[in-house]
Amino acid sequence: MSDNNATLTVGGATKDYAVMDGSVGPQVIDVRKLYANTGMFTYDPGFTSTASCESGLTYIDGDEGVLLHRGYPIGQLAEESSFMEVCYLLLNGELPSKTELDDFITTITRHTMVHEQLTTFYRGFRRDAHPMAIMCGVVGALSAFYHDSTDINDPVQRKIASHRLIAKMPTIAAMAYKYSVGQPFVYPRNDLSYTANFLRMTFSVPAEEYIPDPVIVDAMDKIFILHADHEQNASTSTVRLAGSSGANPFACIAAGIACLWGPAHGGANEAALNMLREIGTVDKIPEYIARAKNKDDPFRLMGFGHRVYKNYDPRATVMQKTAKDVLEKLGVNDPVFDVAKELEQIALNDPYFIEKKLYPNVDFYSGVILSAIGFPTEMFTVLFALARTVGWVAQWNEMISDPAQKIGRPRQLYTGPTQRDYVPVEKR
Ligand code: SDX
Repeated sequence: MSDNNATLTVGGATKDYAVMDGSVGPQVIDVRKLYANTGMFTYDPGFTSTASCESGLTYIDGDEGVLLHRGYPIGQLAEESSFMEVCYLLLNGELPSKTELDDFITTITRHTMVHEQLTTFYRGFRRDAHPMAIMCGVVGALSAFYHDSTDINDPVQRKIASHRLIAKMPTIAAMAYKYSVGQPFVYPRNDLSYTANFLRMTFSVPAEEYIPDPVIVDAMDKIFILHADHEQNASTSTVRLAGSSGANPFACIAAGIACLWGPAHGGANEAALNMLREIGTVDKIPEYIARAKNKDDPFRLMGFGHRVYKNYDPRATVMQKTAKDVLEKLGVNDPVFDVAKELEQIALNDPYFIEKKLYPNVDFYSGVILSAIGFPTEMFTVLFALARTVGWVAQWNEMISDPAQKIGRPRQLYTGPTQRDYVPVEKR
């Protein structure tokens, strides 16, 4: 608690509300007794000024462009760590020892296969189904296959479900891709790293051996780290809300996947690359900048802007550098990257974007890299969901362990009709 209170006078009655301190970042006013004291609700559509929970996982300073996972800056984790190590950190709160990391990787590796009956599940989809539609369906169905890890009150089952979700997402994602291109599913291999295994399940074919390119493995692992967790974003809040009712972890993560699919959220990476391709050449940029500024035009610069970052998204910094490195190492000269860099420069010097503090976010450059690696744009949000699963799972576990948590049930400002009597149809 802080040593100062917030005082609110409503209808002539004055009440104090406790101000709570975090370890860093904005304080919060504890308004849990507001309705009992005043008969009033707070009103905050989009939750721009609302802390939904207490969390120790990820801290974001939107003004300073800071992102910490359990205190470690995202730039250091992206350069020094690995996605498996970041998974361990998010789940357990501390960086692992070598032995702890090896044991964790072994555990995850041994959960990468999916129930063979699940392969039949895919056959119900059309081949041209969007892979995110397949992800929503297949992940939601996992509770039908792994019912032995759905008791959320059993910490052992919670741990197994957490490991199963992190381990099986690459397999499920790769199967969604294979199904869409009409190629056979590829089983995971226990002698490959998490990320190399995913790339092999995605791109290998029975007709020839597939050796994952270390450059691509490193870039993919970095991209997974950059997408691992991000405080109480829309999809994480969806997972927490679903979990607050006691829903099983597979259903909660499926809810998160559905929310992430939206173009204002995780779907922005697919939309951003499609936008860059539509712009096509640098000389077309001014036309699209004008459209983005036109209030009557619904067009927005996809990959730009953020609810929290009013400065540069630190993940975009790493992503742009990774894009440059990967394109150079792969010898790919994608004009879309030039359009992206020029668009960024023009937008960052345009008064509209400066005034509204609109900067590139994590989704602006990721598509350039994913396209160079060989993923179709429809797979981009699937990759975001794959990486974000550890964040969703860590936040879900934290919520269940939080004694202050109860079922999420917001109220409303009602502006509909007041009570009136039913009128039979013959009298209307
Ligand atoms: C992610 O929350 C997270 O942490 C999400 C995420 C994560 O890791 O989980 O970081 C991942 O979702 C990143 C964001 C990806 N989305 C996009 O790139 C889509 C394009 N961006 C916008 O839709 C928008 O910026 C949002 C949704 C990201 C944020 O919207 P806000 O915070 O609700 O801000 P807003 O929509 O109220 O916009 C503020 C102003 C508006 O103008 P005014 O009404 O004040 O005149 O800025 C304008 C908007 O019109 N604006 C844009 C713009 N984004 C905002 N104008 C042009 N292009 C844009 N991209």
